[in-house]
Amino acid sequence: MAATERDEISGQATTGHEWDGIKELDNPLPRWWLMIMYACIVWSVVYWVLYPAWPLVSGYTKGVFGYSSRAELAADIAAANDARKIFADRIAEADMATIQADPKLMEFALAGGKSAFGDNCAGCHGSAAQGGKGYPNLSDDDWLWGGSLEAIQATIKYGIRSGHDETRESEMPAFGRDDLLEKEQITQVAQYALSLSGKATDAVAVNRGAPIYAEQCVDCHGKKGEGNREFGAPSLADAIWLFGNDPKSVEAIVTNSRKGVMPHWQGRLPDTTIKQLAIFIHALGGGE
Ligand code: HEC
Ligand code: HEC
Repeated sequence: MAATERDEISGQATTGHEWDGIKELDNPLPRWWLMIMYACIVWSVVYWVLYPAWPLVSGYTKGVFGYSSRAELAADIAAANDARKIFADRIAEADMATIQADPKLMEFALAGGKSAFGDNCAGCHGSAAQGGKGYPNLSDDDWLWGGSLEAIQATIKYGIRSGHDETRESEMPAFGRDDLLEKEQITQVAQYALSLSGKATDAVAVNRGAPIYAEQCVDCHGKKGEGNREFGAPSLADAIWLFGNDPKSVEAIVTNSRKGVMPHWQGRLPDTTIKQLAIFIHALGGGE
């Protein structure tokens, strides 16, 4: 190696690099910096020995402490499940009234119901249970099949036209498709149905529709259009409509009928979860 060149002024060795007459001095690294680096090296060796560190062909060096973040997580989950199980067991055993009377159980039921609703029901009923066309709002006090805790629980358990042995079942006839009524009669009875909530647009048709309604629709929808929960027949007298309250929508339903299907959850969700869901929905605002 050639003799190192020294800077004339400082007497410091240079690296031999030069840019436009400016030369780079070869200063040693600061001591504090070196100390930190050596400390880091020592620390890393200690760490390799104590904790899992190096990947091997199969597995890894486990370290003398035998620490595993996965085992720690599993222990945390087991502890959380144990805490939850105490509540879940109590909910499984208690009847609805007992749960409602116990604020701690209620809180647990509502939290579980809310999360199960988001996972299983929000896709059809909306994230706030507000419903949509063909999917009932579950947070109002208008119920097709009943808004008591027991009725809601039964709906969730067995579904509506779901194929379950105990499903809620009913079928509005397809008056047009099956030639039960003429096209003109359908227009008239639709006008009459709309008149029950003050939405009719043709007074003559309303008068002609009245006897048709009395003959064909009263059994399910009631004299004043109040609906009938035994058949899940909606009220026609209120402002809440599943499928729309313009003449076209009503005529379409009378012509072709509708069969809203709600899946059954018995067997798909644990009974405790179904209970929690019923309590959650009952508490949304419309519970009876
Ligand atoms: C595939 C879509 C779908 C899913 C998912 C669904 N529902 Fe429904 N649900 C419906 C339909 C459609 C109706 C109305 C059926 C009818 O027309 O009678 C309904 C009706 C209901 C009713 C009765 C409302 C009333 O007015 O009586 C309740 C309660 C209910 N659903 C709760 C739930 C809960 C809780 C879940 C989740 C576990 C859920 N639904 C999941 C489609 C769905
Ligand atoms: C066998 C019972 C039954 C009879 C008879 C019946 N309906 Fe219905 N109707 C229902 C049911 C059940 C529904 C709800 C269907 C669903 O949710 O899918 C319904 C829904 C409706 C709707 C939709 C309401 C809404 O909220 O959007 C209208 C309108 C209606 N019926 C009008 C009539 C008229 C008019 C007649 C007579 C010509 C009639 N229905 C006869 C059972 C009946």
